[in-house]
Amino acid sequence: MKVLVIGGGGREHALAWKLAQSVKATKIYVAPGNGGTALDARFENIDITGVSELCAWARQHEIDLAVVGPEAPLAAGVVDQFRKHGLRVFGPTRAAAQLESSKAFSKAFMKRHGIPTAEYETFTDPATAHRYLDLKGAPIVVKADGLAAGKGVVVAMTLQEAHEAVDFMLADGAPGVLHNEGADGNRAPRVVIEEFLAGEEASFIVMCDGRNVLALATSQDHKRLLNDDQGPNTGGMGAYSPAPVVTPDVHARAMREIILPTIRGMEKDGIPYSGFLYAGLMIDGNGHPKTLEFNCRMGDPEAQPILMRLKTDLIDVLLAATEPGLHGRLDDIELQWDRRTALGVVLAAHGYPQHPRKGDVITGLPVDAEDAVVFHAGTTFDAGVTRTSGGRVLCVTALADNVKQAQQRAYDLALGIEFDGKQYRTDIGHRASRG
Ligand code: AMP
Ligand code: GLY
Repeated sequence: MKVLVIGGGGREHALAWKLAQSVKATKIYVAPGNGGTALDARFENIDITGVSELCAWARQHEIDLAVVGPEAPLAAGVVDQFRKHGLRVFGPTRAAAQLESSKAFSKAFMKRHGIPTAEYETFTDPATAHRYLDLKGAPIVVKADGLAAGKGVVVAMTLQEAHEAVDFMLADGAPGVLHNEGADGNRAPRVVIEEFLAGEEASFIVMCDGRNVLALATSQDHKRLLNDDQGPNTGGMGAYSPAPVVTPDVHARAMREIILPTIRGMEKDGIPYSGFLYAGLMIDGNGHPKTLEFNCRMGDPEAQPILMRLKTDLIDVLLAATEPGLHGRLDDIELQWDRRTALGVVLAAHGYPQHPRKGDVITGLPVDAEDAVVFHAGTTFDAGVTRTSGGRVLCVTALADNVKQAQQRAYDLALGIEFDGKQYRTDIGHRASRG
């Protein structure tokens, strides 16, 4: 079976790595892939990112199954195009991907379907937004509507920060902010201003086939650049699975109050959801989860530890999920998980997240083992040399009997890997190893 993984980050390297364990995989392509997938003979990188070009390529090469990693191709309609041409692909359609690509869409959806989330209002007019901030006070959260490459959310602890965020996000042409079209067809900048939620975050990721839902193992990310959750927000500096904060009770609530109503709601609204669905949860002191956001993909770096724990053949799962018909057959699948803890530490480039430097030579990469794998993200491999080529460079992921041992193993390996300007947190997993 010829399989195509779309994307080039650490999550996609992990997907390809997991797919390669299946005896059913005869060929695994990664588009565009990275240095890690380039230096591994089991994979072939395809240097195509345009959705139409990718679709044409997949038809020409008779790809049997495709799986989409990142949000950008989903929001560009890659699943719609593949399906239109009869190609089997796992991911949400462009309309369903609005759960992530438009905060205004997802917030209105949650309100309509009674899914617990922070209270919010949407604004296009700066003066009205400023008045609303003064009315509500700080702490308060300001979010740009649209994909903003992780720069679209400001958790303002003071009103001044909140006012500044509104001015920045409602200014025309704010850098990196892609504005969505409003109901009036207008692409005016919009912000969502929402209630600040206190608690502990967790990543709750499931697979859906339009109707059935299969929960993946729980996980927790570390979004801030520096130890003790200080510094700027990033795409994620490390993750581990399972996440003890998601107790069986929290898990049951998240499924009952968030995930199932979302899947039913999408079906009812005529945009059935298939693909990975990631609910970013804020869990309060009483174990009640609220939805911070939806992502229509696996988390990165959550995918790396989660996939390291998955024992079930991923091709079987994806085939069940994409079985032709009204919906798939994920109800036939039961996922098996390694009981050990997996923990991944991200090594980021100099200057990340603002201005990551490219081109630094990476040395000391260890040989992968059953219980330790270095997943690549922003790397290239050329003429035998591996170099940095993006913000998050590597995710060193280890499996062990408990969090402390997984930390120990991942950090031992991380220390041996060298490149100029290497940045990483030294406290990944601190919440799970507390006490
Ligand atoms: P988002 O992209 O919406 O997940 O936001 C990025 C990060 O901002 C989240 O992971 C949280 O740490 C924080 N955040 C977002 N919304 C809220 C909120 N309503 N209350 C507290 N923190 C939030
Ligand atoms: N690690 C968070 C995300 O993938 O959005």
